[in-house]
Amino acid sequence: MRRKLVVGNWKMNGSLVFNAALLAGIKDRVDSRQCDAAVCVPAPYLAQCQTQLSDSGIFWGAQDLSAYDAGAHTGDVSAAMLVDFSCKYVIVGHSERRALHSESNELIAMKVVRALASGLTPIICVGETLEQYDAGLTKVVVGKQIDDVLAMISVEDIEKIVIAYEPVWAIGTGRNATPQIAQDVHSSLRAKLALKNPIAAVGARILYGGSMKPDNAKELLSMADVDGGLIGGAALKAADFLAIVHAAG
Ligand code: PGA
Repeated sequence: MRRKLVVGNWKMNGSLVFNAALLAGIKDRVDSRQCDAAVCVPAPYLAQCQTQLSDSGIFWGAQDLSAYDAGAHTGDVSAAMLVDFSCKYVIVGHSERRALHSESNELIAMKVVRALASGLTPIICVGETLEQYDAGLTKVVVGKQIDDVLAMISVEDIEKIVIAYEPVWAIGTGRNATPQIAQDVHSSLRAKLALKNPIAAVGARILYGGSMKPDNAKELLSMADVDGGLIGGAALKAADFLAIVHAAG
């Protein structure tokens, strides 16, 4: 039985004051025996998470990392720096990075390799645009996105990754994928993993992201291959985030 994982993706939101209240609001209310919970925050606030969450059952992480170790990469943050702040997770290949920073499948694969080499768990995002969805290309698009990563990592690494299916048309739009759509895509992603490592594929967590909210979480999370959620907007309100965590637990 896979343990569910609910991850808040704060995106470029927050402030020291705002975060202090949000973290205090969720901190002692997550039962880590029920499911795993984490927040992925803007890099400047990792120290704050480390201070506020270190004695809690909630993990923390970042939203991106550099594909390189160190050196002349102004503005970038390395895997080792994330490890310095005790991050467990790092989101890689979010559709906003793919669209707004032109991140290619190849670059994303390099980042995944870098995260794994540092002991971080990459949350690898895949997802199709509305145009691709309407054209019936969902599985082709997400299949290619995942295959390009799998080609760069070892068979053993499959058990160290988390995947997030995030249809671009569902992110921040209030229009979530139906549980059936999510289930169908998730099982196709698991089949991809199984081609490379059938045992690890059974244990791999595949999260759904895209307008997951307290009122649709239970139904989405009840699907056989939906192992948790990557939560944007709803992760910025303690009550909403907790409601989703409880729906998973
Ligand atoms: P949303 O974002 O929950 O606000 O749709 C999810 C995400 O982009 O990770």
